[in-house]
Amino acid sequence: MDETGAQAPLIALTGATGFIGQQLQQRLLADGYRVRALVRPDSPNLDRLQPGCQAASVYLNDRDALRDALTDVSAVVYCAGSVRGRGPEDFAAANVDGLRHLAAVLSSLSAPPAVLLISSLAASRPEVSNYAASKAAGERVLGEHENLAWTILRPPAVYGPGDKEMRPILAWLRRGIAFVPGPPGQRISLLHVEDLTAAVVAWLRAGTACRHQVYSLDDGHPGGYDWPGMAWAVGAGRVRQLRVPAMLLRLAGSVNWGLSRLLGYAPMLTPGKVRELTQESWVCDNEAFTRATGWTPVVDLGEGARRMFGAKRER
Ligand SMILES: NC(=O)c1ccc[n+]([C@@H]2O[C@H](COP(=O)([O-])OP(=O)(O)OC[C@H]3O[C@@H](n4cnc5c(N)ncnc54)[C@H](OP(=O)(O)O)[C@@H]3O)[C@@H](O)[C@H]2O)c1
Repeated sequence: MDETGAQAPLIALTGATGFIGQQLQQRLLADGYRVRALVRPDSPNLDRLQPGCQAASVYLNDRDALRDALTDVSAVVYCAGSVRGRGPEDFAAANVDGLRHLAAVLSSLSAPPAVLLISSLAASRPEVSNYAASKAAGERVLGEHENLAWTILRPPAVYGPGDKEMRPILAWLRRGIAFVPGPPGQRISLLHVEDLTAAVVAWLRAGTACRHQVYSLDDGHPGGYDWPGMAWAVGAGRVRQLRVPAMLLRLAGSVNWGLSRLLGYAPMLTPGKVRELTQESWVCDNEAFTRATGWTPVVDLGEGARRMFGAKRER
């Protein structure tokens, strides 16, 4: 409550227990918002909710429970996502179906709150993988709801505290070793999770300016990074680029996918993931979002690596 007695806006957050969601909880609470995390009742990660964060125990396909969980909510941030799986059905639950239920429930409200979808740069190339296709399908679900004030953010690879994907890659780069999965000259854009959470707050403050817009976001490094550029940014003097043969990656992806079917786990490395990893580039910029909201990224890769690993080595 502020000094006028008004309550702080209440933000409903899905995916609050994930890598990005945990940082979002912290950021929103620190910026004075109230947060209601919509968590699945059987989530193994309920201990990841911050003190001060309300928990609404709800499956995203339970529309009645969803409607209850959205009571008094000012805005919804949809950060639930499936990032690994064997086939389209594994990605659909969080990336498409949950959104469909949420959009239907929001549409049934007399004054629906605005909704922000954390999508992915991968949605720009749905043909590449089941993950990319599911992120594009989720975006289309929102696009079908003209009546809702939706906005879509498409981050590239996100890194920062709690991330398990980029951290080992950056750690090897600091040692001067790049395992390059794609063609020579491969380039990727990056975003520190702190800048992503700041972008969400900027969206909340921007009101209607971002309605029905799809924005990419990056850390402001023009044209993304190639592997030597990334190594330089994280403080490695020289980098040895070790090309991972595409054949080997494809074989590993197929074997892992097959094993996951036999043993029943959700695989990260699959033929689709290999196609993602071997794209020539995943590059974007943030100009449109900056124009709309005034948000600018503040954590470049050098600063992000310093926060992750400590002081830079001598260049
Ligand atoms: N990390 C990146 O580099 C990156 C880049 C671009 C876009 N994104 C997008 O950002 C979002 C969050 O990514 P992340 O890296 O934070 O993923 P994460 O760590 O795997 O977290 C996923 C979150 O989604 C929840 N979730 C998964 N399936 C669900 C379902 N069926 N119903 C309800 N909740 C479900 C998980 O809840 P439980 O704790 O219950 O499992 C968890 O809170 C995803 O949509 C991803 O596509 C991520």
